[in-house]
Amino acid sequence: MSRSLSFDVLIIGSGAAGLTLGLSLPDHIRAAIISKDTLDAGSTRWAQGGVAAVLDEDDSIEAHVSDTLIAGAGLCHEPAVRFTVEHSTEAINWLIDLGVPFTRDSEDHFHLTREGGHSARRIIHAADATGHAISDTLLRKASEKENLTLLQDYIAIDLITREKLGLSGQACVGGYFLNNRTGDVDTITAHSTVLATGGASKVYLYTSNPDGASGDGIAMAWRAGARIANMEFNQFHPTCLYHPQAGSFLITEAVRGEGGQLLLPDGNRFMHHFDERGELAPRDIVARAIDHEMKRLGADCLFLDISHKPAEFIREHFPTIYERCLQLGIDITRDPIPVVPAAHYTCGGVVTDNDGRTDIDRLYAVGETACTGLHGANRLASNSLLECLVFARSAAADIARSIDLESPLESVPAWDSSQVTDSDEDVVISHNWDELRRFMWDYVGIVRTTKRLVRAKHWVDLLRQEIQEFYSNHKVTNDLLELRNLVDVAEVIIRSALLRKESRGLHYSRDYPSSLPRAFDTVLTPKYIRELGSL
Ligand code: FAD
Ligand code: SIN
Repeated sequence: MSRSLSFDVLIIGSGAAGLTLGLSLPDHIRAAIISKDTLDAGSTRWAQGGVAAVLDEDDSIEAHVSDTLIAGAGLCHEPAVRFTVEHSTEAINWLIDLGVPFTRDSEDHFHLTREGGHSARRIIHAADATGHAISDTLLRKASEKENLTLLQDYIAIDLITREKLGLSGQACVGGYFLNNRTGDVDTITAHSTVLATGGASKVYLYTSNPDGASGDGIAMAWRAGARIANMEFNQFHPTCLYHPQAGSFLITEAVRGEGGQLLLPDGNRFMHHFDERGELAPRDIVARAIDHEMKRLGADCLFLDISHKPAEFIREHFPTIYERCLQLGIDITRDPIPVVPAAHYTCGGVVTDNDGRTDIDRLYAVGETACTGLHGANRLASNSLLECLVFARSAAADIARSIDLESPLESVPAWDSSQVTDSDEDVVISHNWDELRRFMWDYVGIVRTTKRLVRAKHWVDLLRQEIQEFYSNHKVTNDLLELRNLVDVAEVIIRSALLRKESRGLHYSRDYPSSLPRAFDTVLTPKYIRELGSL
């Protein structure tokens, strides 16, 4: 039996962004925090390196702003960068007050590590499992709050807007959710809805991200009519573990920050041929250099070596990586680690202001789903968790200021599944999943050409039609919903990449190898594209 639920605020996503937003709401506002899987399922839990913030007296807001702008290759919005960095210390203090067990180097001082593109040690961390510590603390606190309802195994299908209901005004009134436990589609309405659904790196075959990173929030916002920006900027992390049994496992940039050296298969270092900052150049440069050397040598992987550091230091700073590698027969205190680049972070997303507001009234987007202007063409390491915290807190304050709890919630029709049947062709979904991700990796990866992008676009257009037909005729499942979202996200990535006639930051095109003198955002407007007849 389908259910109809209502809350003051509907938060879709229980990562750092969604939980921070929920915890920052005043107690009289009732909110649901929803995860499509378990509550700890998103990327947050997997974060290793830490959170960038101005915490040391030798560091400064200006230096953090400047590093962010340099990494962003001229495309960051400086007001958004300043807003983030200026709120960084208070965001970290909030986490410390909640009880996140950050690593200390003395009783009254937190250890700060360093990562690529940072001119100072400014990454606060909990050994090499920072996300785990943050996720655990936020979830524990959220479960203690009476105004928060935590729902798991609830998969958002689509947003419901007043426009879709035939009412005046373009506002979000809630969403349809597949209750994965009952198989029913439930309706949830709210005064404010927040997308905190994480990134879309699962659109690529090789990724550091957990399974659910299928860009659901970006796709839902796009289908609901919100603008999406800068989707061509997919960040590839330079160092994911290369091992047949490793699955998606990151080797944190902090390993390079603490002296780790990148090596060719013959044991020689090479990064200084590409950038004078060597291993600590920003990620786009390091990932491209590794990709270049792998292709030049026909190598399956390169190597990251920290074994010249004392074994005790390595075990203390990188316990998770040490253990995981050891399970696979690699002792990182003695052996170099085999690494490859993999899709890691979605710099673009749903366009928002500094309060997380999107183009659609009563709809917010926070965390990796959003495009706030902070990251520009390339995110600076460890600025993502910071963005989750800062923007979730400002969005919560904006919701508290503007929510109208007295106004009646819209009445919404129940989901109609009378015309659909159970699918007997699940193989179509799994096959298309694999093919889409392989295609994106081969044709829309670290190095791009117009020819490859055009090919990818033709293929994705065909796939979209097939998926749409499947979706119209069959009962929804998690895999079908994710594939539908991934194909929409792939389409906006390719479309954005084709529009950018230059190379900048993470977007490198062989046909346009230099940067244009002026940087511009790639902003896609659904209405405009629909009018062109291709969506
Ligand atoms: P997530 O944490 O990904 O959470 C998304 C939530 O949305 C989940 O609860 C998910 O279940 C839910 N969801 C998604 N779709 C739906 C749907 N349709 N219906 C219902 N629920 C849905 N950043 C740093 O700053 N520092 C680091 O050290 C760092 N290390 C990283 C290491 C790894 C391996 C990875 C993968 C990322 C790392 N990042 C790091 C990036 C950072 O972790 C993420 O950008 C950040 O955690 C995203 O948080 P979020 O709250 O936006 O989304
Ligand atoms: C890492 O630890 O290398 C990831 C940091 C990040 O993605 O910001």
